[in-house]
Amino acid sequence: MFHTRVIVAKNPEQVGKFTADKFEEEIQRKPSCVIGLATGSTPLPLYRELIAREKAGLIDFSKVRSANLDEYKGLAPTHEQSYRKFMQDNLLDHISIKPENTIVPLGLAEDVDAMCKAYEEKIEEWGGVDLQLLGIGHDGHIGFNEPDDNFPTMTHEVKLTEMTINANKRFFNSVDEVPKAAFTMGIGTIMSAKKIVMMVTGADKKEILKKTFWGPVDPKVPASILQFHPDVTLICDEDAYPF
Ligand code: PGA
Repeated sequence: MFHTRVIVAKNPEQVGKFTADKFEEEIQRKPSCVIGLATGSTPLPLYRELIAREKAGLIDFSKVRSANLDEYKGLAPTHEQSYRKFMQDNLLDHISIKPENTIVPLGLAEDVDAMCKAYEEKIEEWGGVDLQLLGIGHDGHIGFNEPDDNFPTMTHEVKLTEMTINANKRFFNSVDEVPKAAFTMGIGTIMSAKKIVMMVTGADKKEILKKTFWGPVDPKVPASILQFHPDVTLICDEDAYPF
């Protein structure tokens, strides 16, 4: 817990606003910055706020580049539950970012190694991620980096845990339809971001949040590695704050 800044907001809406402030600041500082984006329920208030701020003339996404954390293996970009579709629907279609400046791992990749390598190279070609957004899973995953014996480094394929499959089945007709594997930026990719902002909301995340930032750094809690990153801001609501 040496470097992490902690901001405790009243509720998820306010978490979204405070996180939007970080993005607004970064885009003002560097209009062509590279932002790392995440899916899930937690970022939705942020995305609503970013759309509203661009409409109000406070942010200009026209030069911004974005790279997403992860994607389900086997889902087409147009699939209702793909993370690409989620990003289009909840943010990208509503801001001025250029489609060619947005990347999400390709769920239908045939040559997985080549796709993962190309993903890393694209981020590198862009000069790295300036501001990476993260949520956290109940098991401490970031992106789809699940608890493991070590910290995976680069973009790679992962098998999803039962916990994650069960947490995500609410979006599918049945648990059998939930993909069992995914592609994700590695912990190394995430740790290479210059700045990181993590949003955490809800009492159900309190326990894992405590382990992440106030427990030992352990690959069984993948997000705990963030304690070693020099510029992390944790923005959580009162329900999630462990103290
Ligand atoms: P959630 O997902 O925001 O829907 O809780 C977070 C995550 O699994 O990373």
